[in-house]
Amino acid sequence: MAADEGSGSGSAPPSLQDLTIDNITPNTIKINSQCKNQRLKYVMERLVTHIHDFARETRISTEEWMAGLNFLVQAGQISSDVRHEFILLSDVLGLSLLVDDINHPKPANTTEGSVLGPFHTHDAPTLENGANMSSDPQGEPMVCICNVKDTNGKPIEGIKIDIWETDSTGHYDVQHSDRNEPTERCVMLSDANGDFWFKCILPVSYPIPHDGPIGKLLEKLGRHPWRPAHLHFMFEKEGYDHLITALYMRGDPYEASDAVFGVKKSLIVEPQRIDAATAKKYGVPENSWVLKHDFVLTTDQETADLRDKLATEALAKLGLNLKLVDHLPVPDLD
Ligand SMILES: [Fe+2]
Repeated sequence: MAADEGSGSGSAPPSLQDLTIDNITPNTIKINSQCKNQRLKYVMERLVTHIHDFARETRISTEEWMAGLNFLVQAGQISSDVRHEFILLSDVLGLSLLVDDINHPKPANTTEGSVLGPFHTHDAPTLENGANMSSDPQGEPMVCICNVKDTNGKPIEGIKIDIWETDSTGHYDVQHSDRNEPTERCVMLSDANGDFWFKCILPVSYPIPHDGPIGKLLEKLGRHPWRPAHLHFMFEKEGYDHLITALYMRGDPYEASDAVFGVKKSLIVEPQRIDAATAKKYGVPENSWVLKHDFVLTTDQETADLRDKLATEALAKLGLNLKLVDHLPVPDLD
C-alpha cells in the first residue's frame, strides 16, 4: 500500500513510507484520523494543515525551525507559578484577543471583554464594599463606583468580581520577589442594587515582562512592550457569561498601541477629580480621582446563542462543511 496522495480520506491506515513535501500532510492527517474524538480529530487536521503550509510557504530553514523550538523551550523555562510566558506569547501574537472574541461575543450595549493577561491570581482577599485594595502610598488615590446589571437593566446581586492592578511603579505584586501577600488585588460582591465600590490607585502604564524570550521577540520585531494604564475585572456568577475585561484610562500614550491588543473604545474611561461631597461620602482624600462605570453582562444563554450564530456564519463564509456539536465545529458527515 502506497502513501496516500489524496485528501486523507478513507478508512485503512496509510503506509507511512516515502513521504514527500507534497504528500506528508494528507498522510499525517490520515494517521491522526484514527482518533475517536471528532473534535480533537478536526482540530488536529486543521493544525497539521496550517503548520505544514507554513513550512512550505516560508521554505523554513533548519536553523529557523530549531530557533523556533528553542524559543518555546526558553518560554517554558522562564515560566513559573507566577509567570506564564505562554500567555504573554499568545497575547503579543493577538491570539488571546481572537480566542476571547470568538468565545465571548458581545451584543451591542453590553460590556466587551479584554485580555486576561498573565497576572491574575487566586489568592486575592475578599473585601467589603468601600475597602481599599491598594497598599501603595505612592499611588494617586482613586475611588471606583461601579454597577453591574443584565441586558434587561436588572441589577445583578452577589456577582463575584475579581479586581487587580499594578502598584504605582507599574508592577503587579507577583513581580516583586519579596511578595508575602496579595496587594493591589481583591474580590468583591455586588450588593442588592448591583453596586460595588472600592478604593484603589490611579492605574499607570507598564511594560509587559520583557526580560525573557517574548521581550526579545518584541525587540526584534521593532515593537514596544508597553500596555496603557488599566484596571482588570473578572465577573463570575452562575447563569452569566464569564466576563474578563479591563478599563483603560483615556489619554494614555499607549492607548492606541497596546502591546497585547486589549484596548476597545467602549472600555476607555476618564477618571475625574473628585468633588468634596463625594470625597467625604466615600472617605477618600480631596485630591482623589473618581471613576464611575456601569457594566452590562450577558447571560450564558445569550452568549451561547450569539456564538453559535456567528460560528455558523463564519464557517459558511469559509465554505467548510461543518456542524456544531456542543457549540464547537466538527465535520458534518451526515
Ligand atoms: Fe494588566
